Amino acid sequence: MKTIISMENITYEYPDKTLALKNLSLRIDKGKKIALIGNNGAGKSTLFLLLNGILKPTNGDLFFNETKLTYTRTDLKKLRQKVGIVFQQPDSQLFSSSVYEDIKFGPKNLGLSAEEIQLAVNEAVRLTETGDLKEKPPHFLSLGQKKRVAIAGIIAMNPELMILDEPTAGLDPYYAKKIMRILKDIHHENRTILLSTHNVDLAYEWADEIIVLHNGTIMAQGTPVEVFQNKELLKQSHLEQPMILEIYQQLLDKHHAAIACEYPISKKQLIEKLSSLLPI
Ligand SMILES: Nc1ncnc2c1ncn2[C@@H]1O[C@H](COP(=O)(O)OP(=O)(O)O)[C@@H](O)[C@H]1O
Ligand SMILES: [Mg+2]
Repeated sequence: MKTIISMENITYEYPDKTLALKNLSLRIDKGKKIALIGNNGAGKSTLFLLLNGILKPTNGDLFFNETKLTYTRTDLKKLRQKVGIVFQQPDSQLFSSSVYEDIKFGPKNLGLSAEEIQLAVNEAVRLTETGDLKEKPPHFLSLGQKKRVAIAGIIAMNPELMILDEPTAGLDPYYAKKIMRILKDIHHENRTILLSTHNVDLAYEWADEIIVLHNGTIMAQGTPVEVFQNKELLKQSHLEQPMILEIYQQLLDKHHAAIACEYPISKKQLIEKLSSLLPI
């Protein structure tokens, strides 16, 4: 498995001396769906700002496709074309007079031809179901709509690594589900997606890999079942076990059933498993 981006012994201290990341090393594999989980203040947003070169580490190195970032203007520009970030607050990202102009901004900046821009925008609009909003000024949109437009803007640039900071925060369950559906649909082997969340249920269901961040330190990195079975780790990191995993685990324990190799990750799969375990 190839590494797309990595950090080596990165420490980040804010100007007011807050130590947000502590000697942190991390590798992100190409083509995966990864959830960075951790509660408020864990350092998730800081980590993301470092991954896209907005912040420069106080100590340590960042590598993109195995090449060390030098923080020159050209280097940063290249990095930002390959690493697209969707901020938690869409208002910091949307600034054009219409949704259409906003989505077009990125590909236009990349220097694509008019025809290529059109294709990129159309595809992004289709995937995010933002067609009806194209003529609207972004500041009139609801939060769920703004988030979809911000995601469309990043898709239109076709980055190798897409980073989304708490993409479902503040959304109701319907729109949160819709965003997660989009993030499943746009994933493919040449597009790595890294999102942050404090919602363990969502991370468990969506991700191929989980990274647990607590107090500026990486506590664990592994498959969702590996990470979320470790109750001690979750307790230390102030996180809960995902509901589907907890129910299934308790049932297995009660029935003294052999540990199944396939854990359910959705409600539907859990119901299927339960029907096979419970007597009719
Ligand atoms: N601009 C800033 N100046 C000083 N401290 C900050 C700043 N932004 C974040 N922090 C601090 O850095 C730590 C990590 O914050 P953050 O990366 O925002 O965590 P998360 O996104 O996981 O909630 C927290 O202690 C937070 O208070
Ligand atoms: Mg944050």
